[in-house]
Amino acid sequence: MPGKKDTYPKKAPLSLLIILVAATAVTVSGTLLQYRQIIGATEDSLKFQALGIAVSLEASLKGRDLPPDATAGNVFRDIITEGRWEGIAFLALYDRRGTTLLHSNENLIGRRVEDPSIGSVAADGMPVYDSMTLGTGERVFILNFPVHIRKDERVLRLALHTYPAERVVRRAQLQMASIFAVLVILWIMSYFLLRAVKRSEELKRTMAERERLALLGEMSSVLAHEIRNPLGSIKGFAQFLLERGSAQREQESEMTGEYLGVIVAESERLETLTEDLLLYAKPVEVRPQTLSLRELAEESIAFLHPSPASGNGVTVQHFIPPDLVITSDRDKLKQILLNVIQNAMDAVGEDGRVEVRAGISDAPGGVGTVITVEDNGCGMAPALQARALSPFFTTKTRGTGLGLAIVEKLVQALGGSVEIRSEARKGTTVRIVLPGGQKEG
Ligand SMILES: Nc1ncnc2c1ncn2[C@@H]1O[C@H](COP(=O)(O)OP(=O)(O)O)[C@@H](O)[C@H]1O
Ligand SMILES: [Mg+2]
Repeated sequence: MPGKKDTYPKKAPLSLLIILVAATAVTVSGTLLQYRQIIGATEDSLKFQALGIAVSLEASLKGRDLPPDATAGNVFRDIITEGRWEGIAFLALYDRRGTTLLHSNENLIGRRVEDPSIGSVAADGMPVYDSMTLGTGERVFILNFPVHIRKDERVLRLALHTYPAERVVRRAQLQMASIFAVLVILWIMSYFLLRAVKRSEELKRTMAERERLALLGEMSSVLAHEIRNPLGSIKGFAQFLLERGSAQREQESEMTGEYLGVIVAESERLETLTEDLLLYAKPVEVRPQTLSLRELAEESIAFLHPSPASGNGVTVQHFIPPDLVITSDRDKLKQILLNVIQNAMDAVGEDGRVEVRAGISDAPGGVGTVITVEDNGCGMAPALQARALSPFFTTKTRGTGLGLAIVEKLVQALGGSVEIRSEARKGTTVRIVLPGGQKEG
């Protein structure tokens, strides 16, 4: 058996793994990016909201005397109770030292807050964003906004509830968690898939090995069987001849000739068998050369014609243009022709006709040479035809069943293909397509 290389697709699990890792990386980075964008967007929306409120409050504060009466007409309290803007936790106005001039909670008016950011906002005239925790435990978003009221620098502090924004962030977190969960599930599924692929590969390998062993077993039994019979005859006749004296041998020269004939025939048969076996088992080495197909066919037919197996009345003809050349391995091609023509000759009876043809075919896929061997012999039923190419399959008492298996192997080594069309009792056409070929000149 030619050493078959291990060609099972080890690449499939690897590419699956690469796809999986890439998909995971893309999904994780995409999700994280989206999450960060959402966080940024909610922060921005809080800033814009706070700034918008601060700017419009600044306008309304500019027209008032401050500090107003603590109890009467607290605009900040009114804004919150009226719900003019949504989401305000509290509003306060400080002077540069941190004294509360106005507050939506009246109880806090007049108090001093120790917060250095108030002083710096008043001094720089730039708004500052911050966050703080209220007495209720709620975290709020803070804007310290500088306002200029009648020559005095004041700081408007605006606190916004963050729970609407937090809801958005929580939803994004939940989404992220579910995406990660899906990824984990995907990985677990891929693990099982890969394991299944690996198992099926192992199974395939053991099956191929079993098949190989079965074929080897079949080969051994065929060999034992095929060699035993001719060997028995050879031994028997050789012993017979040995036991006869030379005097007697002369008397029985006719009989001796017959026995010697059997010895030669059986030895030849063993020779064929071992040659076929070697041809089938040996790895094919292709040595291409440019050759005339017509010459090769003539040579093959001439070689087969005198053989006793050809029977009487069989005509083997070829119809091959003289200028048809092909670059291929001459010996292999001859072996192919010999096997196929021999089969055709074996298949035909009296008045059998075997016709060999060759020509250029420019079928899609490149220029090729088509060789056909057609006979009007016994043909093959579909079930028989299906097995014809299998090694050791034969319907002949003295066949090896290796002929077509060798043909298939050689044709494949030459880069071509074999096709058999056959009909029981009508005949058979063996069609061989080889790459290349051209008309000379
Ligand atoms: N041209 C043909 N016509 C009919 N049957 C054929 C032909 N060629 C092959 N076969 C069938 O295929 C079988 C296998 O052929 P092959 O592999 O050459 O082995 P063998 O010639 O030793 O039997 C033959 O025994 C025969 O039954
Ligand atoms: Mg044969």
